[in-house]
Amino acid sequence: MDAFVIHGGKRLRGRIRVNGSKNACLPLLAAALLTDEPVIIRDVPDLSDIENMVRLLVSLGCKIDTVEGKGTRAAHMQVTDPTRIEAHYDIVRTMRASICTLGPLLAKRGRARVSMPGGCNIGDRPVDLHLRGLKALGAKIHLDGGYIVAEAPGGRLKGSRVFLGGPFGSTVLGTDNVMCAAVLAEGTTVIESAACEPEVEDLANMLIAMGAKITGAGGPRITIEGVKKLKGVDYTTMADRIEAGTYIIAAAITNGDVVLDNCPTDALTAALDRLAEVGVDVESVPPPGKSDVAKDRLRDSVRVTAARRLEPIQVVTQPHPGFPTDLQAQIMALLCLADGNSIITEKIFPDRFMHVSELLRMGANITRTGTSAMISGVKHLEGAPVMASDLRASAGLVIAGLAAKGATTVNRVYHLDRGYEKMENTLQALGAQIERVNVAGA
Ligand code: EPU
Repeated sequence: MDAFVIHGGKRLRGRIRVNGSKNACLPLLAAALLTDEPVIIRDVPDLSDIENMVRLLVSLGCKIDTVEGKGTRAAHMQVTDPTRIEAHYDIVRTMRASICTLGPLLAKRGRARVSMPGGCNIGDRPVDLHLRGLKALGAKIHLDGGYIVAEAPGGRLKGSRVFLGGPFGSTVLGTDNVMCAAVLAEGTTVIESAACEPEVEDLANMLIAMGAKITGAGGPRITIEGVKKLKGVDYTTMADRIEAGTYIIAAAITNGDVVLDNCPTDALTAALDRLAEVGVDVESVPPPGKSDVAKDRLRDSVRVTAARRLEPIQVVTQPHPGFPTDLQAQIMALLCLADGNSIITEKIFPDRFMHVSELLRMGANITRTGTSAMISGVKHLEGAPVMASDLRASAGLVIAGLAAKGATTVNRVYHLDRGYEKMENTLQALGAQIERVNVAGA
């Protein structure tokens, strides 16, 4: 199994481009099931989660060619066999986001059989809200041998009013599923308490370009007027706000000086607000070859620098536009070196603290109580062998390793490969001493 060996203490310097967003791209790819016409999706990141989604869509009768462009990749897709309706357990168990094929299958093919995704290291992760939303559109749903079996009576769903609020806020992929189901339904659907994440808005933008009638995406009420048919599209995935946030924090913890191009600043307001209080300066600069800063703040260029003394802060993860849970582990690593006590409260996934015990092995001082963790800053972190438990926890450990004294081995890097495109190459390009090694049995 692969591991990263990091010799900490190098200041990161240089310029990198943020890739297309994993969490935007997965539902965009699944939405290709909604049309018989060709679909091109650009800036598809090279990640194992994307590979798994491609495998799943191929098994659902979609022909997909991945074409390398100038530093980015495009997926050329077209449905060739619309009779397939089963998202098999073998693929779904490797990636929970497989659930976002449910809405498109039901809308276009009138039937779906999708393996029920299990929990994962960050929590239970139920799908009750997805199912409640689809039932409100008239779908008949039951469970059969671990599969969600869903059918649209008469082959077409019916528009309706759908409430998607749950105990931890709305649901991102649930909103995607209901939105995809509603675009081809008969009549009007109103989703109340819709997820406001920018990835939902990105999906809505692609669906609109395919001929869907959607207003309000990006806010808590989305209105969808069903249409009979969607056409093909050529669409570019939004930039990855979590990848951007991760490299901003990596630059900050090494007291570095890094420019990020294709940075979705507009989608990172809460994170940048917290980072500014810590003492991290993120300033817009002109994109390569330009003399003015970008007008499109979802494709910004930013320069990241940080004060030597990091201030302690309070962070509460919340649904967008609050601080994203997907950056919680990374900012915790940074706060380990702040001058005082910080508190992080996790409001989306109450048990998403697997990285705490690994950071403790590196000399951090963290006390967890329920859904909060108090981080008392230490003078320095010590390199140690640590175990990655999930994607973002692993990113937090890499960030800690970049600042730690001595060598850190982050085992089980396959978690990172799910969501960060060749992270070691990006960090090497910025001057980090990091290499991928194969560790037997780790
Ligand atoms: N929830 C329910 N019922 C549901 C669905 C969700 O109670 O039917 C709860 C969840 O247990 C959680 C909260 O609602 O407490 C939010 O979950 P959500 O459904 O929004 O999560 P998701 O759509 O499954 C996406 C991202 C996650 C990210 C979350 C929250 C993708 C592919 N995944 O998951 O990303 O953490 O939204 O922002 O978009 C990651 O990239 O590392 C990752 C885990």
